[in-house]
Amino acid sequence: MALLTKRPKGTQDFLPNRTGKLQYLESTLLGTAKLYGFGEIRTPVFEHTELFTRSVGDTTDVVQKEMYTFNDKKGRSVTLKPEGTAGVVRAAVENGLLNEALPLKLSYVTPCFRYENTQEGRYRQFHQFGVEVLGAKSPSADAEVISLIHECLSVLEVENLTLEINSIGCPNCRPSYHAALKEYFSQYTDRLCPTCLERLDKNPLRILDCKCPECKEIAKGAPVVLDFLCDDCRTHFEGLKQRLAAMEIPYTIDPTIVRGLDYYTKTVFEFVSNQIGAQGTVCGGGRYDGLVEEVGGPATCGLGFAIGLERLLAVMEAGGCEFPQERPCDLYIAPMGEAASIEALRLVTQLRQEGFVAETDTVGRSLKAQMKYADKIGAAYTLVLGDNELAAGKANLKRMADGQQQEVELCQLTDALYARLFEQIGEAGPVLEGLLGQMNPVEL
Ligand code: HAM
Repeated sequence: MALLTKRPKGTQDFLPNRTGKLQYLESTLLGTAKLYGFGEIRTPVFEHTELFTRSVGDTTDVVQKEMYTFNDKKGRSVTLKPEGTAGVVRAAVENGLLNEALPLKLSYVTPCFRYENTQEGRYRQFHQFGVEVLGAKSPSADAEVISLIHECLSVLEVENLTLEINSIGCPNCRPSYHAALKEYFSQYTDRLCPTCLERLDKNPLRILDCKCPECKEIAKGAPVVLDFLCDDCRTHFEGLKQRLAAMEIPYTIDPTIVRGLDYYTKTVFEFVSNQIGAQGTVCGGGRYDGLVEEVGGPATCGLGFAIGLERLLAVMEAGGCEFPQERPCDLYIAPMGEAASIEALRLVTQLRQEGFVAETDTVGRSLKAQMKYADKIGAAYTLVLGDNELAAGKANLKRMADGQQQEVELCQLTDALYARLFEQIGEAGPVLEGLLGQMNPVEL
């Protein structure tokens, strides 16, 4: 029985007092991406399991330990998406988007699911805003997506995130790096965790990303990938650094970043905060030049990033960032009696169609209780509607802040309310102006 009223571990309920913040993040991020030429894509929440084992990689923690995988009623294995990239690449291939003018630039907001050990900032259902660019091989593309993140953070007024970049090479240079890693980690077979012992042969790079404290400690002394880059990867990395410098985007090089997903080649990067505890990576991304081919498409290079919305929100709340004010109720109509209640419903419908936030009684409360309720929901104005008001076609519009009243014609309620709210701009300043700005411009 207790399970009925308890959400699953690692999930969150976003209540109305916080969803406004999430909506603000999503619209700002998607809107900024639009300015960079990205169109929004929505892909299914679940995909065939094979898509993730092939793309994310079967030696990663995500695939080995964290996926929500189950058989559907026909016995097909499906998985709730642990990240956004694979589904987007699959959709681009399946829908023939790569036959159109490249680069293809796609943005998304999506829930993701990973069965992780939960802690602050690490959830089993979380949300990502991300972008993917397919068919752009120049380091200008890498610099452009990083510049997009930089711009998003600047629009949201997020400070103190540091950009860390690295290059993890390509299929040309990776074998020699793998060999060096294998040689290094082979000295510690008695201390590595069982998963990493398996990885030693299959994919030693993954040991660098293991979350076990002992493996992490050993990984500190491992050879670094930058010493093994081929000329092509080195030139690409230099090109990125030049472009970041030209755009005045500060960065540090962190040769230990390898990312937790197998598809990366060349550039990888993270935006990290030291304000939100151990899970400080707010954004991660990089280039994946072999992924499209890996999932059955034409050889096409790609790159992208994803920002964890919960972590971004945590950084913004910790840093005292401003969020747009929630628009409170403009008018609460308090009816007395059956006829007034019907008229009140007609009036609030009309007001809502014109862009006002309007409410009336649907509970059957007394007048006193209704006024208390109007106060509680922060109504800017109230209007009491009884038989006398209905007969006269007029009622008193009361400003809740100071009790000031003004008689208005019910048939001109919309104009009167707008005039009153507009009048208040002088008194309430830009806050109210912002609120009025959200109203239906056609009607105003
Ligand atoms: P990722 O680094 O696995 O990359 O995840 C990106 C972001 O999602 C992280 O930086 C973090 O903010 C958030 N995140 C990841 N796991 C959790 C979790 N358990 N709880 C809360 N937030 C989490 C990717 O997913 C790649 N698909 C990014 C990418 C796109 N690379 C290229 N294109």
